[in-house]
Amino acid sequence: MRIGILSAGGDCPGINATIRGVGKSALTHFGMEVIGIRSGFSGLLENDYLPLDDDALSGLLSLGGTILGTSREKPFKSQEGVPNEKPRIIAENYRNLGLDCLVCIGGNGTQKTAYKLSQLGLNVIGIPKTIDNDVWGTDITFGFYTAVDIATEAIDRLHSTASSHKRVMIIELMGHKAGWITLYAGMAGGADVILIPELGYNLKKVNQAILHRVEKGKSYSIVAVCEGLDINDKRIEYETGIETRKTTLGYVQRGGSPSAFDRNLATRLGGHATELIVDGQFNRMVCVHDDKITSVPLSEVAGKARLVTPDHDLIVQGKRMGISFGIE
Ligand code: F6P
Repeated sequence: MRIGILSAGGDCPGINATIRGVGKSALTHFGMEVIGIRSGFSGLLENDYLPLDDDALSGLLSLGGTILGTSREKPFKSQEGVPNEKPRIIAENYRNLGLDCLVCIGGNGTQKTAYKLSQLGLNVIGIPKTIDNDVWGTDITFGFYTAVDIATEAIDRLHSTASSHKRVMIIELMGHKAGWITLYAGMAGGADVILIPELGYNLKKVNQAILHRVEKGKSYSIVAVCEGLDINDKRIEYETGIETRKTTLGYVQRGGSPSAFDRNLATRLGGHATELIVDGQFNRMVCVHDDKITSVPLSEVAGKARLVTPDHDLIVQGKRMGISFGIE
């Protein structure tokens, strides 16, 4: 068999570990030929690829980013009035390359594209990845816990400077429209206020929580906020009378080496992808369900996102401990 691998969408720690997981099992155990497609779906449009042999798959486990490169190319997105030739070109190139399966490593957008390609008759396997942890159909994505570790360390570091200056420190974390990183890092880093898009927030409640801390003799507060929410630090400063600063952590959350947990998760998902290919179980996304590596049909995943629900135990326990989620 000859398989192709690509990574699409935003990068995250663990992509190279999963390329290695797919590639080494495919080559060594199953005797497949493996090619890497550069720059996501752009590479398939432009026939930009490289053979992934043993040498190319060495030294990848701890490496951040993706050796294949990535892009946000969405081949099914058409402009009004302009015929979209991209899906046809991709299907043609897939066949000309002699591929038996295309492995697509990516987030929600990538899984949707993978599903649409499967509807064109291509054999596709999806592997979920994103620091945002918002891919529908899996309990967890690799990259997430590495990002949470980085964000937690950043919040830890804000405590001493916030305390020294008696300030409100707002830290904006990534997550797109999902509050997973903010909730997990906010709780792990001991934030006093945690604001996520799934719950929304009321600024009055945020200010009340900050002032309540002052009444209890706590002269500083840490507010963790997800990038999907707009927060006005000047208004907090004006309405509470406490000096307020904002830090945006940004792409640091996405860069660098994956944690041990994410390396192993990426390896397990990559290995399972090759099992599905050998069994001819195409058009599925490998996933984690109840701590087990399994898979779901791409048709169920496409077009959905997995968000934090208000009954998440970290929210329930956080509220009981007096942490404000900006709503009550
Ligand atoms: O999908 C991961 C993510 O880091 C989001 O949290 C963020 O909104 C987005 O990517 C930004 O990525 P880019 O600037 O590369 O489009």
